[in-house]
Amino acid sequence: MTAALVAAEWARVFTLGKARGRIEALFEADGARAARMSRQACGMLYDFSKTSLTEQSLAALLELAEAAGVASARAALFAGEKINTSEGRAVLHPALRAGPRAVIELDGADVMPKVRATLSRMAAFAREVRAGAITDVVNIGIGGSDLGPMMASEALSPYCDGPRLHFVSNIDGAHIHDVLKGLSAATTLVLVASKTFTTIETMTNAATARRWMVARGADPAAQFVAISSAPETAAAFGIPAERVFGFEDWVGGRYSVWGPVGLSLMLGIGPENFAAFLEGAREMDTHFAQAALADNLPVLHALVGLWHHQVCGYKTRAILPYDQRLARLPAYLQQLEMESNGKRVSRTGAALSFGSGPVVWGAPGTNGQHAFFQLLHQGTQIVPAEFLIAMRGHEPELAHHHALLVANCLAQSQALMLGRDHAEAHRVFEGDRPSVTLAYDRLTPKMLGRIVALYEHRVFVEGVILGINSFDQFGVELGKELATALQPVLAGAEADLDSSTAQLVALYRAHQP
Ligand code: F6P
Repeated sequence: MTAALVAAEWARVFTLGKARGRIEALFEADGARAARMSRQACGMLYDFSKTSLTEQSLAALLELAEAAGVASARAALFAGEKINTSEGRAVLHPALRAGPRAVIELDGADVMPKVRATLSRMAAFAREVRAGAITDVVNIGIGGSDLGPMMASEALSPYCDGPRLHFVSNIDGAHIHDVLKGLSAATTLVLVASKTFTTIETMTNAATARRWMVARGADPAAQFVAISSAPETAAAFGIPAERVFGFEDWVGGRYSVWGPVGLSLMLGIGPENFAAFLEGAREMDTHFAQAALADNLPVLHALVGLWHHQVCGYKTRAILPYDQRLARLPAYLQQLEMESNGKRVSRTGAALSFGSGPVVWGAPGTNGQHAFFQLLHQGTQIVPAEFLIAMRGHEPELAHHHALLVANCLAQSQALMLGRDHAEAHRVFEGDRPSVTLAYDRLTPKMLGRIVALYEHRVFVEGVILGINSFDQFGVELGKELATALQPVLAGAEADLDSSTAQLVALYRAHQP
């Protein structure tokens, strides 16, 4: 890979982007467009035909991917090379789901025996808890230590037959207050999930939960579990070693649902369903690792993303699951995509010459149709939409609901693309608004694993082509440091502040008793 070659490929793609035609016309010109611009793998249909990509621009994007070294970067990821260069770490979340026979070496040692041992411990613990008297599990964590298991447990609610699951993340005391108020301390298990075990939100909430338990005569030593890659810090918090589930620093927080951070999910759906979730992700890993770039779902999904954001200049992308149980997927993907690819410099620290990751947002359909779809159809910004839709629901007795759901999903991508002429300006739909549709059979544990791994690898490929490190997150640090510095100021300490912050501090102080 040479920088000059990559730049030349980018230039070609940009030229093709400027010459792009109307999507509808592409369908008129090619009766087989849908088949040509769709791929099937891992039980999914990925349809990107309702975009302005042509065979020529797709070929150019694939050449860009080749020039940018996607194939070798992919090999380096799976081989455990230290591709998180700014932190000197490997990126081995695929190891967490690599299965019973895998051998993955890091610094000359196979990491898999430890991964499998931890998974077995988790399963044994989950079986014990699910068979016991615990009625409620409270996962305390934030970011990657919250969003994954929270999103997945809601997605897989038809499979949740264990204790009730609750998630506390926000440092706002309202969150933990509202969760704990309905629970019995005697039958509640608290999982403190934090990779670093220093995150202020999690440590504050964990201390509050411990006080809540002690005040009600329950024993936190027996009813607290720690999940962390800093087991000594967890032990110092007073959680016995047998209740600490560790993981390595080569698992990024936003990629951690597949290991101990997924313990709450495993407690809810059981070890067998959790194994199916891992198996689904493993299938997507295998597909990503082995399929040619032109047939590779994560690669194509990344190329569509780059086409829309970097080339066409669309500022955001909307994640629109027509699957109510995926309501938290947009929030999950916000961290996955924006924490990974929201960067301003390349791997080498040079300022990027084009935009990095887009703003990611979304909400489930059909609800969004009655809220923000107005802007999607008639607003002045074009927002590429990503529809997710299951062909079958979990409620056969409500199949008529599902048919309406599917009809609405398909109608929206049609309407976005086709638009409509009208004599009255307010009723004109310009159309030519792109979307992709990811269609799958049912939202089973295995399918969820495939979907999440698809997005993980999509983020990776976009990062490789943009030349950025998708695995650090220094952008979250400054705000944390300033919050720490402001705590004593709120309590009365002097500080040299800008006048806006000073005014807000004064207002806060004036409201304290
Ligand atoms: O502040 C961002 C972040 O570091 C995320 O990357 C991470 O998922 C989250 O905080 C929680 O971190 P931890 O698991 O160490 O508590």
